[in-house]
Amino acid sequence: MAKCCFQTFLFFFFFVFFSHQSLASSKYTRQPPRPVIFTAHKGSESDPQQVHISLAGKDHMRVSYVTTSHQVPSMVEYGKVSGTYESSATGDHTKYQYFFYTSGNIHHVTIGPLEPSTTYYYRCGGSGPEFSFRTPTSSLPIEFAIVGDLGQTEWTASTLKHIDARDYDIFLLPGDLSYADTQQPLWDSFGRLVEQYASRRPWMVTEGNHEIETFPIIYPHGFKAYNSRWLMPYQESGSNSNLYYSFDAAGTHIAMLGSYTDFEASSDQYKWLEADLAKVDRTVTPWLLVLIHAPWYNSNEAHEGEGETMRKAMEELLYRARVDVVFAGHVHAYERFTRVYNKKADPCGPVHVTIGDGGNREGLAFNFKKPSPSISLYREPSFGHGRFRILNTTHAHWSWHRNNESDSLVTDDVFFQTLSSSKACMGIPKWQTSSSSLNDEL
Ligand SMILES: *[C@@H]1O[C@H](CO)[C@@H](O)[C@H](O)[C@H]1NC(C)=O
Ligand SMILES: *[C@@H]1O[C@H](CO)[C@@H](O)[C@H](O)[C@H]1NC(C)=O
Ligand SMILES: [Fe+2]
Repeated sequence: MAKCCFQTFLFFFFFVFFSHQSLASSKYTRQPPRPVIFTAHKGSESDPQQVHISLAGKDHMRVSYVTTSHQVPSMVEYGKVSGTYESSATGDHTKYQYFFYTSGNIHHVTIGPLEPSTTYYYRCGGSGPEFSFRTPTSSLPIEFAIVGDLGQTEWTASTLKHIDARDYDIFLLPGDLSYADTQQPLWDSFGRLVEQYASRRPWMVTEGNHEIETFPIIYPHGFKAYNSRWLMPYQESGSNSNLYYSFDAAGTHIAMLGSYTDFEASSDQYKWLEADLAKVDRTVTPWLLVLIHAPWYNSNEAHEGEGETMRKAMEELLYRARVDVVFAGHVHAYERFTRVYNKKADPCGPVHVTIGDGGNREGLAFNFKKPSPSISLYREPSFGHGRFRILNTTHAHWSWHRNNESDSLVTDDVFFQTLSSSKACMGIPKWQTSSSSLNDEL
């Protein structure tokens, strides 16, 4: 009894402490957010829960699931026919402790090689329900559903339902997943809420500030829950941290960067990104996308300037590589910029898009600065999601879908052309791109 109350007290204390941390800079008023949904586990202790999948190197998929029973093996059986599992693979499990909370066994099993655009049926841990997923296409067109700052409210549930209403290949999440904010059972609840979607399409995520969960002295490094639960293909992409990595999908190279780990020129992340971008062959992957959490371009009063240090450190790398689009979250609204570099419109810079409008409990960031800067082309504080459909080696279609009660409505859409098809932007002598600055020539 005494222990229970002490725990409750601690949780309450952390909640207040962290809520205060994350809201400290908010000068804006927020729309009343909808209630948090706590999703319970319906199966037995040995039934897998929180099943989700992620791309894990060429032609491979990582299946992640949690069991409270310690007897369940880290093993996934799979095949192309429902109920018939011609292949199986074993993996590892981990678990972690956060104050009085001990996680279940968190299993990660990599399966493959898999064929593209193919439905696979699978079962986790040797028993329990069957799941299925479809591998992404290996050729264009390909479609990405993109939204950050999800949380687990009734808004989140409707956003996910709208995303699911139209087919897509891969889900991209630019940070802020569960909004557990140190209350670890909410990580489990989030895993269960998203399972019906994340077990069917790969979810590729990067971290936001709500993933940090550091605590002075006791947990100074943070990301305990995030790194244990949302293992991404960082080793497969030559990175030494789960906080940044990259992957390829049908003509597209995507770098998932970390806003909450070192990014200065001397950092591991910077060196990794420099090498990763140097390897990109635009004849193989004509499209080049980047995801971050804190936006580098933002005309909302919320989180103003928070991405600025990272922008200063890394923008030139992205610019030289001719990145097509940078997707960010953090600001709970939608905003689309023109092509920019160094705070000015630039035909060879990436388009920046803030898509932090997934529906978390904090509500919306209503206050956009007036007047709107000329580089900001569309901005609106509403919940919704984005879709990036790459049509071919030159054109893609971006659309922003605003949530309404039962449906979602395309409210902003535009065609993009990849910079790799632009003679003006790509026709740069090698000696100039590999050293010094490009500022003079544009
Ligand atoms: C790519 O798609 C765009 C938009 O549909 C179209 O105008 C263009 O001709 C296509 N290009 C190629 C090479 O197929
Ligand atoms: C909701 O979406 C439907 C169609 O998808 C549209 O007809 C309706 O006007 C929308 N309602 C609001 C309030 O935006
Ligand atoms: Fe955030």
